[in-house]
Amino acid sequence: MALPLYLHPFLTLSFIFILYTQTSPHTSSPYIRLPSIQSRSEPVRISVADFGATGDGIHYDTVPIQSAIDACTAAGGGRVVFPPGKYLTATVFLKSGVVLEVQKNATVYGGTRLEDYPVEQNRWYVVVAEDAEDVGITGGGEINGQGLEFVVRFDVRKNVMVSWNRTGACDGDECRPRLVGFIRSKNIRVWDVRLSEPAYWCLHLVQCDNTYIHDMSIYGDFNIPNNDGIDIDDSNNTVITRVNINTGDDAICPKTYDGPLYNLTATDSWIRTKSSAIKLGSASWFEFKQLRFDNITIVDSHRGLGLQIRDGGMNMILDYITKIYL
Ligand SMILES: *[C@@H]1O[C@H](CO)[C@@H](O)[C@H](O)[C@H]1NC(C)=O
Ligand SMILES: *[C@@H]1O[C@H](CO)[C@@H](O)[C@H](O)[C@H]1NC(C)=O
Ligand SMILES: *[C@@H]1O[C@H](CO)[C@@H](O)[C@H](O)[C@H]1NC(C)=O
Ligand SMILES: *[C@@H]1O[C@H](CO)[C@@H](O)[C@H](O)[C@H]1NC(C)=O
Ligand SMILES: *[C@@H]1O[C@H](CO)[C@@H](O)[C@H](O)[C@H]1NC(C)=O
Repeated sequence: MALPLYLHPFLTLSFIFILYTQTSPHTSSPYIRLPSIQSRSEPVRISVADFGATGDGIHYDTVPIQSAIDACTAAGGGRVVFPPGKYLTATVFLKSGVVLEVQKNATVYGGTRLEDYPVEQNRWYVVVAEDAEDVGITGGGEINGQGLEFVVRFDVRKNVMVSWNRTGACDGDECRPRLVGFIRSKNIRVWDVRLSEPAYWCLHLVQCDNTYIHDMSIYGDFNIPNNDGIDIDDSNNTVITRVNINTGDDAICPKTYDGPLYNLTATDSWIRTKSSAIKLGSASWFEFKQLRFDNITIVDSHRGLGLQIRDGGMNMILDYITKIYL
């Protein structure tokens, strides 16, 4: 692997790269509908502590957390609150109408054992919403995948990681859990939260619609392989703004596996990565349309923009890329 390309932070290079322009740049007011989470009338608040969560970081709090989420969705939606503490958990399933409020000084830690995750590898997340609506994560606290616990051998270039492939659970060396996933879901909002130390990808959208990710941060160890920041697969109407991403692998990665990706806007964000800051393809079998990147500051990274169609694929129509500061 090449040595890091230490680019001067801020403004050594600023360029406008317009591949296709349909409308004039104006991303300050995103054109997507924003999630309706806050318009719910009397949202309930349920603390995981009321369901017996210890928050001691030693005992698994999976059952209390899941019970609080289930009670919250059954009550019509609201917030599930994590007061300050350390919450060790196996996979928890976020349900419709529920916003996780991980408060300041509260950290949700993902388990590091294979049995902490569902049988199917494509459901290996610490927190995952499947077929859900009006869901979110906020609160000022942190969700942490304990990625460093998956390191078999530290290496200045690239750490060697645990792979659960030996168990037959999956193939290849990327056989590790992701951190947060939204699958076939809509009206998603993630803000004021820190997503840290994924063992694999960090924030993953799959076939989602109407997602707003803002004012939050992502941190992955620089030497952990595959710890992508935000992967957006086959999803429409995604806005990413005022996000700080510092990771060892690609930071913002739109992909098309089973369907097209329309309307992705990423603005006013800061990225440091050992790989590409903005990376289109691998996985580019369907169209990418109306992608806008504006005012993205990229520091200390191997690559700013990566546009690949190595898997073949269809049209990539980028509305505009403007003001990328390297
Ligand atoms: C968070 O922890 C810090 C340091 O222990 C403490 O000063 C602060 O009051 C705590 N804040 C909350 C909201 O618990
Ligand atoms: C399992 O993962 C290791 C790396 O941890 C890799 O070297 C090996 O090729 C993988 N084996 C299979 C069968 O995928
Ligand atoms: C995104 O929009 C396209 C075009 O309307 C549609 O074919 C696709 O199913 C949509 N995807 C999702 C996840 O809604
Ligand atoms: C993309 O955004 C436009 C508004 O600019 C909207 O008319 C269109 O329906 C959106 N596409 C999808 C697939 O949601
Ligand atoms: C560009 O984004 C940065 C955050 O990375 C923000 O501080 C700045 O105000 C933005 N500039 C404009 C012109 O919006």
